[in-house]
Amino acid sequence: MLDESKLEAIEQYKGQRGAILKDKAALLALRAACDYGKEASDWLGYSDSFTFRSRALQMHNVAFPPFGCSQQAKEEIARSSSPVSAGSMWPTGPVDSWSVEDAERLYITLTNARHRAKEVYITTDRDEIRTDHYADSHVGSGDVYYEKFLESLAKTTADKAWATFNGDTVNAATKGSAGGKEMQGDFSIARSLDFCELRIKPLLPFIGYIASGNHEANVIRDAGTAYCPALELCKRLGREDLYILYCGFVRWHITHSPSGITNTYVQYVHHGSGGGKATGAPLNKLKELADGNEADFYTMGHLHRDSAAGLDKRYTDSEGEVQIKGRLLVALPSFQALVDGNYAARAGYRPSVPGVTSIWLGAAERSMRTEIFR
Ligand SMILES: [Fe+2]
Ligand SMILES: [Fe+2]
Repeated sequence: MLDESKLEAIEQYKGQRGAILKDKAALLALRAACDYGKEASDWLGYSDSFTFRSRALQMHNVAFPPFGCSQQAKEEIARSSSPVSAGSMWPTGPVDSWSVEDAERLYITLTNARHRAKEVYITTDRDEIRTDHYADSHVGSGDVYYEKFLESLAKTTADKAWATFNGDTVNAATKGSAGGKEMQGDFSIARSLDFCELRIKPLLPFIGYIASGNHEANVIRDAGTAYCPALELCKRLGREDLYILYCGFVRWHITHSPSGITNTYVQYVHHGSGGGKATGAPLNKLKELADGNEADFYTMGHLHRDSAAGLDKRYTDSEGEVQIKGRLLVALPSFQALVDGNYAARAGYRPSVPGVTSIWLGAAERSMRTEIFR
């Protein structure tokens, strides 16, 4: 039954269907005011509760119980409805140790997610938000600028900027990896995940996604398991919903609370693949991605080198007017060191200043900018 007294503060969403999905605090208030998703979806004006329940879960990890669910399902939902542990719909530990039913559920989620853009909803009173894009920290490898990595994480946290992790977060080199022998970690994968869990957790309310890179994918390929360190990190953080595969679309919906304006920016994320030592290599790869995938900005790690360019595009709109769309290509730096004799040095990698690349997205007005610091 709906508790009307708890609905007064969120009255503006009554009958407005999905509008509440942009306001997580209101969604949680609605959750607290009802016993079942059907009541909540009726109040919002949906004709069925499934769409609303699945979107609330997918976008915010807020679970609304359906009518008539089993005691076990009710307990699972009760466990999963607190905001932070909301992702704990899955068992803990490597996927291989899960029951067949849980593994099947995960595969269905992941394989469907593969063709679904990830949505990030942000409400801010700032005129623009900063998104810090981390890539290739290779935690666990011996040649990492750990102090710089921690310093960057602390700055992202202190500034309440948003963070994304774009693959090769943990080193996870296997025998089959390129340079695998030299890239073997000083830490085991489990230890590297401990490190990441401890250090990345403080950023949690402001993480957009955590993607796989080739180092995470190598584990699946070489070990022949479904165990993915990037997914495992998300699970440890209690936020499986943050996991994305090697490449995909992320849509940032940024609502400027003073004006009520929402700007949406589409990002195409790719960890990167193959080599490329030439100066223009990262941008050429990004341009290839931009040719095939329509977005506002593109990010790619893997080459361990930062670089950025605008790649504007002309098109005619529905009225036949010629318009210009501004787009950004952003290659991300890494935290892996170039040390005489190590893999990166022998492979002839260029030296690169370690760090994180920020991209600012306008909230009050549409704008995108990025900067590279030296
Ligand atoms: Fe890497
Ligand atoms: Fe990589």
